[in-house]
Amino acid sequence: MAQEEGGSLPEVRARVGTAHGIPDLAQKLHFYDRWAPDYDQDVAALQYRAPHLAVDCLTQALPGLPHSALILDVACGTGLVAAELRARGFHQLHGVDGSPGMLEQARAPGLYQHLSLCTLGQEPLPSPEGTFDAVLIVGALSDGQVPCNAIPELLRVTKPGGLVCLTTRTNSSNLQYKEALEATLDRLEQAGAWERLVACWLPPSWRWYPASLPRMASSPALSTCTENGR
Ligand SMILES: C[S@@+](CC[C@H](N)C(=O)[O-])C[C@H]1O[C@@H](n2cnc3c(N)ncnc32)[C@H](O)[C@@H]1O
Repeated sequence: MAQEEGGSLPEVRARVGTAHGIPDLAQKLHFYDRWAPDYDQDVAALQYRAPHLAVDCLTQALPGLPHSALILDVACGTGLVAAELRARGFHQLHGVDGSPGMLEQARAPGLYQHLSLCTLGQEPLPSPEGTFDAVLIVGALSDGQVPCNAIPELLRVTKPGGLVCLTTRTNSSNLQYKEALEATLDRLEQAGAWERLVACWLPPSWRWYPASLPRMASSPALSTCTENGR
């Protein structure tokens, strides 16, 4: 996709729309492989703020989280979440993603101590139980990406009392997934596996995309920080 570098805003929107419309995970990861070199500039053009807001959510939910905290960025992509975490002084960062192309981009700036190829929903996270003080997953909980049944795996690698921070989209194409996700979160909370601390809805001015992109602008994203109750 590098030949499309510097594409116009309509082209960038079309590319994001294409990504959202791919239902098959293998095809989606292949799409991310090709998108990887242009991903950062494309999502910047679309005012993508989910990494910034998720890290805000995390730090507000646990203001005392030490800078030495070990943090896992699941579906880390090119490393936008790591850049936000680094900017706030967190430096013990691990990342996993199912796209080798995205991981290659994430590796270049050296923001992560460890990066691993891992496809959530198909294989376990490459870490023992209770490893991380906090686990984030940003921009990957939606149809055709990380399935809801991977949520317990996020909890497994989080320390007791640690934090899990999630985002999902609430635009109409993702409503079914979002409902399934919320049902999964509720079931796990009722089972005592974790406790919801905060849920934030983006105000309209913080939407991911300019308002002229109706289907995607019509709904904000949701961030949830949850404490692992094990
Ligand atoms: C929209 S990007 C978000 C990347 C980054 N978290 C961000 O906010 O910029 C979605 C990422 O999720 C990854 N992904 C999607 N489904 C996945 C899965 N089942 N397992 C691992 N990674 C997945 C893709 O490769 C891609 O890098």
